[in-house]
Amino acid sequence: MAKGLFSTLFGVAIVSAVVVAPAQAADDISSRLEICSACHGSNGTPTNPAAPIIWGQQENYLYKELHDYHSGERSNAIMSPMIKPFSLDDLRKVAAYFAAKSWPAKQPGATVAPPPESIAMCKACHGQNFEGGAPAPRLAGLSYDYLIGAMRAFAGGKRTNNLDMPGFMRALTDDQREAIAQYLSSL
Ligand code: HEC
Ligand code: HEC
Repeated sequence: MAKGLFSTLFGVAIVSAVVVAPAQAADDISSRLEICSACHGSNGTPTNPAAPIIWGQQENYLYKELHDYHSGERSNAIMSPMIKPFSLDDLRKVAAYFAAKSWPAKQPGATVAPPPESIAMCKACHGQNFEGGAPAPRLAGLSYDYLIGAMRAFAGGKRTNNLDMPGFMRALTDDQREAIAQYLSSL
């Protein structure tokens, strides 16, 4: 009788371990992502304009960037060491986790800057409203500081994890890049 009770309890323990495991795996990833809100914000709005919005960003793009910080193809003193400890499988979950959240709402009443002429060609990849698509990230609503930093990094050869963007950015003057960053951040 004692043995019967033991194996029943043991059986229950195994069944609950199996049932609980997937939920714990999901929790594991989200608990490892609490640190991200220190800069990327706990409601999707970054606490510092140098950190980009990642909530609601294109999933393919997020995974590509996480992969590139992991491999060293994109390098940043803050992000590279932060991402190194994750496996590529984990990084797929990280990308899905942030992509599923909503892009933060705009400040009510914020005015949209006039679109500079040089921005027309960007729509082919970044979307008619710069909402992004499977091949390219959303740009609408990123901060001026982050946008101008990313554009200058491509133009100056500091960010080389894409073959096309450096040439596109070098073809513009810094005044044009500033006008583009101004416009995109106002969307
Ligand atoms: C201490 C501040 C800080 C923390 C913490 C932080 N980030 Fe970042 N993150 C940044 C900055 C700054 C950049 C821009 C770096 C660059 O220019 O390459 C960035 C860039 C990114 C990008 C690239 C987005 C894009 O539009 O190209 C992703 C994805 C990202 N972070 C994810 C994460 C995740 C996931 C975590 C948590 C594991 C995290 N970050 C924690 C500051 C931070
Ligand atoms: C041929 C397609 C294509 C065109 C045209 C294009 N882009 Fe891009 N852009 C991309 C892709 C793909 C990426 C992501 C690169 C990577 O893997 O990091 C990107 C990245 C960016 C980023 C970095 C976003 C971030 O979150 O870090 C900015 C800013 C940007 N593009 C601005 C522009 C502007 C401004 C134009 C027009 C002058 C333009 N792009 C034209 C494909 C394109």
